[in-house]
Order: sequence, then structure tokens, then C-alpha cells
Amino acid sequence: MNASLHNKNIILGVCGGIAAYKSADLVRRLQDAGAQVRVIMTSAAMEFITPLTFQALSGYPVHTDLLDTEAEAAMGHIELARWADLVLIAPATANSLARLASGRADDLLCAVCLASKAKIAVAPAMNHVMWSADTTQNNLHSLSESGVEIFGPDAGLQACGEVGEGRLLDTEQLVHACSNLFSRGLLQGLKIMITAGPTFEPIDPVRYIGNRSSGRMGFAIAEAAIEQGAIVSLIAGPVHLTTPQHCQRTDVETALQMHQAVMSQIAEQDVFIATAAVADYRPHQVQLQKIKKTTDKLNISLSPNPDILKEVAALSKPPFTLGFAAETENVKDHALLKLKNKKLNMIAANRVAHMVTTHEESQTKQDSGFNSEYNALQVLWKDGELILEHARKTQLARQLLTILANRYYEKTST
Ligand code: PMT
Repeated sequence: MNASLHNKNIILGVCGGIAAYKSADLVRRLQDAGAQVRVIMTSAAMEFITPLTFQALSGYPVHTDLLDTEAEAAMGHIELARWADLVLIAPATANSLARLASGRADDLLCAVCLASKAKIAVAPAMNHVMWSADTTQNNLHSLSESGVEIFGPDAGLQACGEVGEGRLLDTEQLVHACSNLFSRGLLQGLKIMITAGPTFEPIDPVRYIGNRSSGRMGFAIAEAAIEQGAIVSLIAGPVHLTTPQHCQRTDVETALQMHQAVMSQIAEQDVFIATAAVADYRPHQVQLQKIKKTTDKLNISLSPNPDILKEVAALSKPPFTLGFAAETENVKDHALLKLKNKKLNMIAANRVAHMVTTHEESQTKQDSGFNSEYNALQVLWKDGELILEHARKTQLARQLLTILANRYYEKTST
């Protein structure tokens, strides 16, 4: 049983969409996780599935009308609003999102949401064109601004036969998302900023200096931090990765842009994790036109980029800092030097090298570091160290954050 939903009171709001049939299973799964569930259906939802189904599954009469004297006498909408720890609307249609966003109270579901101090979460499900419409996105934005949690949607084949974003999340994912709302993770409520990926430093309009970082390590840390209840800001260089749910992402391309993005939000952060492979230098002058091949030799003069991590650690009130060291030799010594020179709280060192392997070799060699699903880390701090053996970056990220949490609380409790 999922402990964080144990004894939680959940109102499941069902709106009129084809995905409403999935809500029946959702009632059961929420109950399996320990929650007590009451169902509110909109009139449109009853065109798709009957209240009797939900009554049988939840064990309670289904609430459908705002102005039903009998229902109000049993458990009125204000009482219902007070009873709930969470109002989960699944599926939430474009119409219901618009109504919620505009603060309507002319049906039971909207009235309960307005009258409730409970957490509110919506799981949108609709045609992908409706989903991407500006109006829907604006409504979601304003709901999210006012603290409503948005679960999904998923992408894939839709009931209309088209493919795109707008599918209701799987029941299991919805239950997991609900329990995350109540769980108290290791990093609960901490504000964590993470840099990830490479930076690209333009030479001319078509060329740049870059590196092999994929952003995977940083994105895995972002996801693990969210899992542990942190409020995550992810500053991402040019990468091809999906944004982890519930994370605020800022995309940048150059070291200067990353520096600007970090410094503009760093004051409010508790922890700064620098996973990005930031270019140490950039072309001194970016050519406005494509450089032509006219000489045998071409020199590009470089200027140093700001050291973002070092600058953050040197702030008068610095956040807790975790740096990374990508080394090809003398890994520990170089990492310790960076820990000291940049005045960091912790550093995670990894050996990196681009391995040119034959097909046969690639079957046996364990890949690691840049642009790989795997890594191995040596985590160092002033008077301690821990080795995290070769594993998936997703797994290493969780282990690394457990070490970070211990060190963070040790530091802040003294
Ligand atoms: O992105 P992936 O493909 O998953 O690969 C992950 C990784 C190998 C990139 C990652 O694990 C890693 O090691 N990141 C740090 C790479 C690096 O640039 O290391 P560095 O030794 O050059 O820099 C030391 C630290 O200073 C790093 O935390 C870096 O983010 C930071 N730095 C460096 C230069 C600079 N101008 N500003 C910085 O903030």
C-alpha cells in the first residue's frame, strides 16, 4: 500500500470525455492505495458513464447536482469541499479547465473546487488540437499559477484516431502523482537549481564550439530531486530531452546565457547542482557571416567564460553547492583541487573519455560519462568520500541526492 495516500480523502471529479471510463478503475486504485474516494460527475460525464458504476465502486452515492436538496442535506457541497484532502479531476476536459480557470461556480465540481482549501489536481484528456490551442494553454498556465497541479497529459493514439498529446495518464501514473503530493521526500520543499547539458559557443552563424554532454546526468538529477519533493529549476543547454514533470526549465545555448539564467534566480535557491559541461572559452568575436575557406590555417581567438559555479559559491549567502568534475586522468586529485579552488560543499567526479570502440569491443565495454545512459561517480567533500559504482544515471542520481541531503542537513543544522 502506498503510505502517503493512506486515510486521505479524495474527491474524484469526472468530466465528459471518452476517457471517463478509465476513472472507474482509478477509483479502485486510489482505494487500494488507502484513500477514501467520493465522486463528483458533471452532467456531460453522465453521457459517457453512469453514476451507478461509480457508486458501486466507491461505495458512496455519486454527487452530481449543485442544487439537489436531498444530496445537500446528506453531504452539502461546502461539507464535501471541507472533507477533501485532494480534488482530482480526471479526465479534465478543455471546457472544465476553462471553467475552473475563470472561477465559475455554477456546477457542483467547480463550486467544490472554489470552496475547498484542499490540493487540486487536473489530469487533462482531450483531442491534441484542443490541447495545444492557445486558450487551453493559457487556462492551464493560470491554473498552474494558482497552485493547481497538472498531471499529464500523455501523447499517443487518441480516441479520434489521431496521434498527439492529450491522452489521460495511465491510472498507475495518476495514483503515483497523487501520492507524490502528500509524500515527504528527503528534499521536501527545498529549492534546487540544476544546470545540465553542454553549452554551444558560436563561431559564425553556422558553426560552434561544443562538447559531447547529452544532459542526461542533469535531467536524471532533476527527476530524482522532484521525486524527493524538491522544487526544481533546470537550466538546460542545447539537449534533446523531455522536461521532467513539475520542473521549471529554462533553455539556454551559450555559457553567457547560462550564467545569466543562473544568476537571475540563484538568490532564492537552497542548493545549486552544476552538472552542465560549460565551455571554459568562447570565440572572442562571433563572425557575422559564414567563414570562408580561404587560408590553410585558421586561428580562432578565445576569451574565457565566467565560471558559473565558482561565482555562485562565492556569493555572500551561497546555496549549498555540488559541482561535477569531468576528468580524463588523475580524477580524484583534479576533483579535489576543484572542490578547494571553487570553495564547494561537494563535488562528484567522473572519468570521461570518448571511447572509439569496434563493434565487438562495444559489446563488452561498459560505457560511462558523456552521452551515455550510465556513469560512475566518486563523491568528495572536505572530510569524506563515497564511491558510486557504475550504474544507470537515473539510479546514480538518487544515490547522489541521498548523500547530498545528509550533507545539506548536517551543514544547515550547525
Ligand atoms: O550530460 P551527460 O551526457 O549526461 O554527461 C554528464 C557529464 C559528464 C557532463 C557530467 O557528469 C559532468 O561531469 N559535468 C561537468 C562537466 C564539466 O564541465 O566539468 P568541469 O570539470 O569542466 O567543470 C567543473 C564544474 O564547474 C562543473 O560542475 C561545471 O558545471 C562547472 N563550471 C565549469 C565551467 C564554467 N564556466 N562554469 C561552470 O559552472
